[in-house]
Amino acid sequence: MIDINKIRNDFPILSRTINGKPLIYFDNGATTQKPKAVIDAIVKYYSEQNANIHRGVHTLSREATILFEEARKTVANFTNASEDELIFTAGTTDGINIVANGLNLAEGSEIIVSEMEHHSNILPWQLWCERNKGALKYIPIKDDGTLEIKKLETLITKNTKLIAVTQVSNTLGVINPIDEIIKIAKFNGIPVLVDGAQAVPHMKTDLKNLGADFFVFSAHKVYAPTGVGVLWMDKKWLPKLQLSKAGGGTIKTVSFEKTEYVDGPLRFEPGTPNIEGVIGLAAAFKYLGEIGMDKIAKHEHTLLKYATEKLNELPEVEIYANHLNKAAVISFNVKGAHPFDVGTLLDKYGIAVRTGHHCTQPLMKHYNIPGTVRASFAMYNTLEEINEFIEALQKSIKMLS
Ligand code: ALA
Repeated sequence: MIDINKIRNDFPILSRTINGKPLIYFDNGATTQKPKAVIDAIVKYYSEQNANIHRGVHTLSREATILFEEARKTVANFTNASEDELIFTAGTTDGINIVANGLNLAEGSEIIVSEMEHHSNILPWQLWCERNKGALKYIPIKDDGTLEIKKLETLITKNTKLIAVTQVSNTLGVINPIDEIIKIAKFNGIPVLVDGAQAVPHMKTDLKNLGADFFVFSAHKVYAPTGVGVLWMDKKWLPKLQLSKAGGGTIKTVSFEKTEYVDGPLRFEPGTPNIEGVIGLAAAFKYLGEIGMDKIAKHEHTLLKYATEKLNELPEVEIYANHLNKAAVISFNVKGAHPFDVGTLLDKYGIAVRTGHHCTQPLMKHYNIPGTVRASFAMYNTLEEINEFIEALQKSIKMLS
């Protein structure tokens, strides 16, 4: 069991009030709150350690470089990856764009995504296809929000050059059968990119055993700062992936005739990186490591189960993907009400939920809806908060009817 009171005390923002009510933060799919350990690490960095990295001989620069590279090791440990396969990016979107622009696929190549993808895992591929006479295909979903995985094999042709799928749907919380997808892809000799943005915060990440080619996630969804993320790639891709961004810190030698780039992750990290963000990410992973991802997953599943049961008791509520093979995310609508109205009323009770299409318009099209209300939980949420939420939702429903 996790010590929920201790965890809540670690997050200063949770003692805030909103509209005179204690904050109930259920918008963790959009971004998570930050524990004191992360905030303190950033303050310490700027108060005592700030310098640019990788280039200076002076003490501060050497210290900052050590912190940054130690952070890479911490991320590697947390994700069971090798540190020389981890690239720091600006976030999930940046990581996917680096891969989309670097794969150097032949004209006419086909890329397969899924119907539930976040726009970030559609648009970079769509742009590539538009510019290179490619074709973007998608694995459809069933009405329960799970993938029609049997259709995957029918989509694959000799021109399929990549499968890019999310491990967990940001809108529905559905957990995809990534192992099965990777198995099918490998059998057909197709590389796989996994969008782990909504998986890393909720479950153990094991990149060595996942078998993907590329894996991306954002720090801010896992209790760390915004503007930083990770692109992991299997070692074999490091020398193969074409550079789409170049600049200081990526080179061995530069002349006007020829430039030689370094090997390894640094070749994909041009310019001064988000040093504070990387240090904050390492602090977040150390913090999560002390609590244990298994315990967090168990607690969040209890929240998911309880909230699902309570919502299912309300006849006006329709849940999309109404089952429990999910991360702790529930998307729903109140019949006859616009999600924005529901979200606005809940805010009056201090409850933060997400409303809208959640950057998944093709998924909205599948359900023929403009958007949903999304409650997404994190380790610091409680059953009592869910009770408050249900009560506020019932009051909101009354007001809207
Ligand atoms: N991608 C984020 C979400 O799902 C912003 O809310």
